[in-house]
Amino acid sequence: MSNIKNRRWVLAAYPDGMPGEGTFRMEEDLALPDLADGEILVEARFLSVDPYMRGRISPAKSYAPSIEPGQLMVGGGVGVVVESRSGEFAAGDIVETMGFGWQAFAVLDAGTVSRVDPSLAPIESSLGWLGMPGRTAYFGLFHVADIQPSEVVVISAAAGAVGQVAGQLAKAHGCRTIAIASSRAKLDWCAEIGYDAGINYRSVPDLAAAIGEACPGGVDVYFDNTSGAIQDAVMMNLALGARIALCGTISQAASFGEPDIGPRLNRNLLINRARMQGFLVTDFAEHYDAANQALAKARDDGKLKFREDVMDGIENMPKAFLKLLNSENFGKQLIKI
Ligand SMILES: NC(=O)c1ccc[n+]([C@@H]2O[C@H](COP(=O)([O-])OP(=O)(O)OC[C@H]3O[C@@H](n4cnc5c(N)ncnc54)[C@H](OP(=O)(O)O)[C@@H]3O)[C@@H](O)[C@H]2O)c1
Repeated sequence: MSNIKNRRWVLAAYPDGMPGEGTFRMEEDLALPDLADGEILVEARFLSVDPYMRGRISPAKSYAPSIEPGQLMVGGGVGVVVESRSGEFAAGDIVETMGFGWQAFAVLDAGTVSRVDPSLAPIESSLGWLGMPGRTAYFGLFHVADIQPSEVVVISAAAGAVGQVAGQLAKAHGCRTIAIASSRAKLDWCAEIGYDAGINYRSVPDLAAAIGEACPGGVDVYFDNTSGAIQDAVMMNLALGARIALCGTISQAASFGEPDIGPRLNRNLLINRARMQGFLVTDFAEHYDAANQALAKARDDGKLKFREDVMDGIENMPKAFLKLLNSENFGKQLIKI
């Protein structure tokens, strides 16, 4: 292992407002430690780029500890085992973990990774529709919002990694699905994968009115990937007994950690006896196998298409991350190593 050198991205400093490329610093030519018993050395093939990373580079209280300046950036990845001191894995095996980090090689505890079968799907699927984002869509719809056939389901960031899976699973369940996204091209993709209607939140003059027009009987379920102004507009259109599955708050990327100031619309929850529930995919870890099976079946049945946005090279990790925060990714953002 001694001749392998690592490259990795660390946090340079907490951003003040929107992160920029200077938020991160690359370290190169790093020696790798010798493996201890039970460890494996894995070479990255794909690294995952996700909105939750915004929360980790803030000192604000969250559901997971912040990264401190100088520490390795967290992130998922899938790669090939190069060397093993674990009886469970051999060189050449493909493994995936949420704990890879923004680096070319990782020394990992074999107990923390999952085996990936490359004969089932391209290995990068384990970071997309058959991984954390796909499972998030599944749990948000079926465990949090408890969607029912014929209900009206509105989804923000509808063309993204989570959103595109949520839209197709809800449709396959017999729901009427409404996409909210930032561009014509993204809404065209949403139509292609089966969304019944689409709203460009940037171009409509009155988002609440546009949602009302698309959902004349009200919104039964809102799969909220963004929070902020889009949530406010949906809140003006709730149906009796509506459920809001609060999945993400990416609209706050520039003001992370500050209190979210917006219209106070809570009376809409009261009037409609509606429920809003935040959730993390990891809350449902005991159901991962069921989710994976449902996702694989949807794919086998031809009911799950998935678009990826792949950039080449670990040197582009910060650029790819900033794309997400600026609505410039089109599908699941990945870095190919
Ligand atoms: N709770 C969980 O366990 C969990 C797990 C995974 C992801 N999430 C959350 O789910 C959401 C989607 O994640 P993803 O991985 O699927 O990312 P994604 O949708 O592939 O990419 C992020 C998208 O967010 C939208 N966006 C960015 N800035 C925005 C703004 N200011 N206002 C409104 N929309 C904005 C953009 O879509 P448009 O082009 O449509 O603006 C962008 O493409 C994120 O909030 C993420 O944190 C939560």
